[in-house]
Amino acid sequence: MASGSEHLSPGLHEYLAGHSTPPDALLRDLNAETAERFPGRAHMQIGQQQGTFLTMLAGLMGARRAVEVGTFTGYSSICLARGMAADGKLICCDVNEEWTSLARAYWQKAGLADRIELRLGPALDTLRALPAGAWLDLVFIDADKTGYAGYWEELVPRMRPGGVLLVDNTLLHGRIFHAEPDPDALAVRQFNELVLADDRVVAAMLPVGDGLTVARRK
Ligand SMILES: C[S@@+](CC[C@H](N)C(=O)[O-])C[C@H]1O[C@@H](n2cnc3c(N)ncnc32)[C@H](O)[C@@H]1O
Repeated sequence: MASGSEHLSPGLHEYLAGHSTPPDALLRDLNAETAERFPGRAHMQIGQQQGTFLTMLAGLMGARRAVEVGTFTGYSSICLARGMAADGKLICCDVNEEWTSLARAYWQKAGLADRIELRLGPALDTLRALPAGAWLDLVFIDADKTGYAGYWEELVPRMRPGGVLLVDNTLLHGRIFHAEPDPDALAVRQFNELVLADDRVVAAMLPVGDGLTVARRK
């Protein structure tokens, strides 16, 4: 969730976003419809530059098997699925039927409905039910912050060598630096330490959006 690279100066963010490939008409429509129908929630969508990056990374990897944790109205899922191979499959995890019904509508419009499968229910249950073994190419985590560590522990063993995990909001609007962090901030701070100490991956934190951790399974 983030509408821009909020940890960069506004001028710098504007320049970077202004010199990255912009979203197409379908993604702009989804942005607008999300803002209209869920005005207090629209900020939860990933930023446009982040979306372009997701599509590019999925394409560079030739990703065929992917999981998203936290789908909302579908912006990031469309970006991921568009970059994936034509026979790719993206499993989306969310708990909210209303928000994801808009996602379903846009998957249809985008011609991606056969590439994306929505699993409604607590993501930890969905992930625990996934097959074991190292079969996943790409993962995007963007849901409840106190769940991040649990999602990580379920997903890392399922990543193929060279597979990539992307985790959003790992700066949590700077709240991770507070002396007395709130529960979400504490969870993200502990999550960042967990990733750093995890020798199954090589990880880099990027100041994209609200902090994007990119981790590659060794
Ligand atoms: C920040 S939004 C995701 C935004 C989305 N990636 C996008 O680009 O539009 C977080 C989503 O996580 C979902 N969520 C929260 N807790 C969850 C849980 N325990 N299991 C699955 N999904 C959850 C919410 O319903 C919400 O749709």
